[in-house]
Amino acid sequence: MLILGIETSCDETAAAVVTDTKEIRSNVVLSQVADHLPYGGVVPEIAARAHMDHIEAVISKALQDAGVTLPELDAIAVTGGPGLIGGVIVGVMTGKAIASVQNKPFIAVNHLEGHALTVRLTHDVTFPFLLLLVSGGHCQFLSVQGVGQYKKLGGTVDDALGEAFDKTAKMLGLDYPGGPAVEALARGGNERAYTFPVPMKGREGCDFSFSGLKTAVRQRIQELGKLNEQQKADICASFQFTVGESVCDRSRHAMDMFCTQYPEAKTFVLAGGVAANQYVRGRLEKTCAEFGMTLVAPPVKLCTDNAAMIAWAGLERFRLGMIDSLDFEPRARWPLFA
Ligand code: KG4
Ligand code: ZN
Repeated sequence: MLILGIETSCDETAAAVVTDTKEIRSNVVLSQVADHLPYGGVVPEIAARAHMDHIEAVISKALQDAGVTLPELDAIAVTGGPGLIGGVIVGVMTGKAIASVQNKPFIAVNHLEGHALTVRLTHDVTFPFLLLLVSGGHCQFLSVQGVGQYKKLGGTVDDALGEAFDKTAKMLGLDYPGGPAVEALARGGNERAYTFPVPMKGREGCDFSFSGLKTAVRQRIQELGKLNEQQKADICASFQFTVGESVCDRSRHAMDMFCTQYPEAKTFVLAGGVAANQYVRGRLEKTCAEFGMTLVAPPVKLCTDNAAMIAWAGLERFRLGMIDSLDFEPRARWPLFA
């Protein structure tokens, strides 16, 4: 079985071909970072225009790399939302056009489900599992019972974790996207140099909050005045340490909640762009071990936005007969849970 995946919900134009034997035949990701860099973040209009300009070439390359022609595909899976609506429309219209002309099934994939199911492409992970989904726009604990079956255990009351990394980077004058820049600088910093309050620590449930941490970092930067490179690294390390404290504390609560319901389940999945962060992974691995759970995260390349995750989630849906009509409307908002 061969599925073409298309992803255009943010600032990557991506296409991939994935098989039911878990082979990623191709995975083309065209990053628009250079287009948005001068603005310090993604500009929706520029993103939509860039998707229009590049989508055809990206799909052609994905098919070519995979050695596959359109008639050989079994289905077309496209990110149907949530995301920047201009980009989502470009992907959905392109996917529908291919599906219509080639007379193939069309599958609208929730971008978050793409992140959520990627581990089943790269690892042998069975349902149910506990999922911490942390990206630029989302930050939530979900109990995943099956394809399309998600229950929210907790989430952020303000900023997403990726957003907190991006804002910290911006305050330090680091380039967008901020997550990788903060992680890299933190390696040379002292995580105990500055003390920031750990958000929500000990609070019942497993919600997150990152706006207080952002304010604390901003105040500290203002107090210090002009920063030298070591101070910047120390702020990154101290910020990341505080994030680690919060993520581990919240995850303990989430594991308590999840394990009460599913005592036999032993898998904790970390997904979304922030799952690329090695420090957060390391901290969580230890915390999972306290509960006899195993942390599973996709390889770094499949944590940030890509189309292999969309093709795979589409394949999982296709196998279950979950096909969409060509009337599907692109969605800016689309929660995973009912
Ligand atoms: O999943 P993703 O590629 O796009 C969304 O769906 O949002 O996630 C992007 C987010 C950005 O906020 C980015 O700064 C963050 O993931 N990110 C990281 C790392 N790599 C990407 N955050 C921390 N450490 C990283 N290494
Ligand atoms: Zn994403």
